[in-house]
Amino acid sequence: MTTAFFPALLEQATQPFQAGGQFTYRYARGKLAYDCIFREMLQRGVFPAQGHFLDLGCGQGSLFALLLAARQLFEQGHWPADWATAPRPLSLRGIELMPRDVQRAALAFGPGHPLVRIEQGDMTQVDLGCPDVITILDALHYLGYTQQEILLQRIRAALPVGGLFLTRIGDASAGMPFLFSNWVDHVVTYARGHRMPRLHCRKLAEWRDLLIGLGFEVDSEVMSEGMPFANVMLVCRVPR
Ligand SMILES: C[S@@+](CC[C@H](N)C(=O)[O-])C[C@H]1O[C@@H](n2cnc3c(N)ncnc32)[C@H](O)[C@@H]1O
Repeated sequence: MTTAFFPALLEQATQPFQAGGQFTYRYARGKLAYDCIFREMLQRGVFPAQGHFLDLGCGQGSLFALLLAARQLFEQGHWPADWATAPRPLSLRGIELMPRDVQRAALAFGPGHPLVRIEQGDMTQVDLGCPDVITILDALHYLGYTQQEILLQRIRAALPVGGLFLTRIGDASAGMPFLFSNWVDHVVTYARGHRMPRLHCRKLAEWRDLLIGLGFEVDSEVMSEGMPFANVMLVCRVPR
């Protein structure tokens, strides 16, 4: 069932992006279909059964579209038996720096969505509120090293006991795959209409030390399936 199921999930999750035109739609399709982290997060059940989500550097909102589609298919009974229960988001708040991506998200989710709110803002400046889950997918390395440390401290402080911080980083100790990942990062950023970013990367061991030092329990998992990247997912929990 899993193989037949994923195209249905993809279809449901990407339909909303049709409203933003071909580039927006195709970008969402490519991202959700070929980037294994989206499937893996759901299949493994890394998220709590329900909760308030905050996605920092959310881009056009691909993660939220996936979560909404997943919950809908789950409630309709179209869900693989070997996948974890789809999470039931109570709210989905995204912060994105680039107005162009905020606009793409606005077109996809429409005004007055009951769960989704995408705000234009800088993740280093915004009030994080009191979410149960904070995600940063492929965006931490755009911040300077000190900014990363301050933000991670604030994330730890904002989360409740049992709260989850999930991020994906590029492992700077990974050699050629790491260099290739950074090259692709530049190309994709340019294609999405943004300026070339300066990247601030760390070795996986350094990320782990930093997060453990802040009081998280950290699991790391290579998350580049089938691609020559150096991507690692860090699942960081506030101990109970
Ligand atoms: C590689 S994209 C990933 C987008 C999204 N997380 C995803 O997985 O589809 C990184 C995003 O982080 C955003 N970003 C970078 N620095 C940011 C900041 N200081 N505050 C908010 N967003 C930021 C970029 O504009 C970009 O949309």
